Amino acid sequence: MALPAFNLPPAVSLVEVGPRDGLQNESAVLDSQTRCQFARKLAACGLKRIEAGAFVHPRRVPQMADSDQVLRGLAQDTGVSWSVLVPNRQGLDAAIAAGAREIAVFAAASETFSQHNIHCGIAESIERFRDVVEPAVAEGLEVRGYVSCVMGCPYEGPVDPQTVTRVCTQLIDLGCYQISLGDTIGVGAPLQTRKLIDRLLSLVPAGQLAVHFHDTYGQALANILAALQAGITTIDSSVAGLGGCPYARGASGNVATEDVVYMLNGLGIEHGVDLEKLIEAGRDICKILDRPVMSKVSLASIRTPDPNPQSGSD
Ligand code: HMG
Ligand code: MG
Repeated sequence: MALPAFNLPPAVSLVEVGPRDGLQNESAVLDSQTRCQFARKLAACGLKRIEAGAFVHPRRVPQMADSDQVLRGLAQDTGVSWSVLVPNRQGLDAAIAAGAREIAVFAAASETFSQHNIHCGIAESIERFRDVVEPAVAEGLEVRGYVSCVMGCPYEGPVDPQTVTRVCTQLIDLGCYQISLGDTIGVGAPLQTRKLIDRLLSLVPAGQLAVHFHDTYGQALANILAALQAGITTIDSSVAGLGGCPYARGASGNVATEDVVYMLNGLGIEHGVDLEKLIEAGRDICKILDRPVMSKVSLASIRTPDPNPQSGSD
């Protein structure tokens, strides 16, 4: 049971972005079979919402090429919502042909980032997404929305919270069931997080918001705790702390799922994920990518065999 003093939710939903955000910035480009095996390993840990790929231009993000094959490869794996990023109608048509049941559109709260990332400004991106979200919803797909740069932009610096609010409500009005707030370059700190979420909660129910922290400045877990205390119950994370955006140079990976799970265990919040299996999945993919694990919990559990902390309920 969660500590009443912390005013925390009893359970949360984790969105694993390792096979998409985690792989999109790696120098190694993995084939679709290896990506499917990675995604399945994550599902075997108990993760129920997994971003499997992106239907973007393969020259812009070669790591996400063949996402159609990944999605087709995962078609038999039921019990998991496999989501994919879709930037425009061309991406939607390809995603539907590959069997997508859930997609995510991705806007930004910074004009310059939006131009670099998807080659159009914010207002035009919303019009493009209208052409994605409406037909997707009509086809019975679930559509999630991202807003990047909610805490700061790699090109413009500080971002006006009013812009974040505007873009979030525009995406919800289009038909997105949930908006994930992306701290793309990991610059946010807990007070800023709390203020932004409180502002959004005056317009949007907590269930329609998620948080997506990159850990560049080591603030991600503190920000997640602030978000939980504000009433947020959906957290994006990436196994082994993989991740980054090719259009946000210098930004680090996402908060590691292992570290989020460890913190949730310590807070007595349910999440449904097996931490030991998750640590193994993170180590395995890092071996394949020939890169170090960034999860502190994974690194610490090399020294301490039992990674499960005591629940914080007493
Ligand atoms: P564009 O240049 O505006 O597109 O790209 P266009 O309509 O002018 O077409 C130009 C070319 O793109 C044509 O091909 C189209 O066929 C092709 P060409 O004739 O040159 O060979 N094209 C496509 N190809 C494949 N799939 C498509 C597609 N659409 C057009 N869907 C586009 C627009 C968005 C496609 C491009 O700019 C792109 O691929 N950008 C990459 C965006 C990306 O993946 N960014 C990283 C993910 S976002 C992120 O990481 C942030 C997040 O994690 C949250 C956070 O942390 O903040 C979500
Ligand atoms: Mg991201």
